[in-house]
Amino acid sequence: MTAAGGLQAPEGMAERLAAAADRVEATLDELLPSGAGLENPLLDAMRYATLNGGKRLRPYLTTATAALFGVPDRQAQRAAAAVELLHCYSLVHDDLPAMDDDELRRGRPTCHIAFDEATAILAGDALLTLAFDVLADPETHEDAGVRIDLVRGLTEAAGAHGMVAGQMIDLAVEHRPVDVATIERLQALKTGALITFAAEAGAVLGKAGPDERQAIVSYGRMVGAAFQIVDDLLDEEGDEEAMGKALGKDAAAGKATLVGALGRDEARRRADRLARDAIASLEPFGHPAEPLRDVARFVVTRRT
Ligand code: IPE
Ligand code: IPE
Ligand code: MG
Ligand code: MG
Ligand code: MG
Repeated sequence: MTAAGGLQAPEGMAERLAAAADRVEATLDELLPSGAGLENPLLDAMRYATLNGGKRLRPYLTTATAALFGVPDRQAQRAAAAVELLHCYSLVHDDLPAMDDDELRRGRPTCHIAFDEATAILAGDALLTLAFDVLADPETHEDAGVRIDLVRGLTEAAGAHGMVAGQMIDLAVEHRPVDVATIERLQALKTGALITFAAEAGAVLGKAGPDERQAIVSYGRMVGAAFQIVDDLLDEEGDEEAMGKALGKDAAAGKATLVGALGRDEARRRADRLARDAIASLEPFGHPAEPLRDVARFVVTRRT
């Protein structure tokens, strides 16, 4: 399949993503609590919201970057799982009636529909907390400095200067005219920050030097920006069955998107340009960065 700007969907990417998804699913299964007791609905809801498919693109980014820096697989898997736990929490809360009010996610009823709102809120809280527990555990890295770096990085990506801030702005500007710069900032925060951290985590685990780490951060920002533009395009053009979530909702909900502000063609051109720049930014890493280039190609050619 060819995107508007001519980038090709990477050969074999779907299979590679699926294989990586299976592996991170097994790690998540291992890390998620289970047990019997009055808190059981919480533990069930955490598993329901996590072990349910999903592209697992963020964990893929973490493991691909980690591989670039020679990180042992077990460490990469744990950091990748932590990022996915955080992402799954963000989806549970994003779907709540007080936010986007969605009833379908990853092809199944959303967590608050399958359980109830209170349980979904608590499951989100517990997934968020578990993500930090995983990063802080010595099994993730023997060097406490690296673990603190990871914890702080995820805090910044997820908190009041990251994803949560973006979600606040997303709601605050609904049905309001906003300029392109505001939309770019909103999207960089709500989606770009976690995607950037997903990539950066591999560099942190591998103790990459400052220049290399910064190069990965810039790459992550561009991939994250392209990713959300395409999410907004797919809201208008995608296939509901393939996406596993209700589409066609952003315009009705008055969401501020670049598709709304610039039109589909210009939004598509922007996403494509971001992907090309992301690919070019990996030049210093040479051929070993090819899996990361493929992620950039995938993000703008994806249909799911
Ligand atoms: C959806 O993310 C939320 C956004 C940031 C747009 P994904 O499209 O990665 O969702 P899953 O994880 O594959 O379900
Ligand atoms: C969600 O953006 C970003 C998050 C932080 C979860 P959207 O609200 O566009 O994501 P979807 O379309 O519901 O997956
Ligand atoms: Mg939302
Ligand atoms: Mg949503
Ligand atoms: Mg969306």
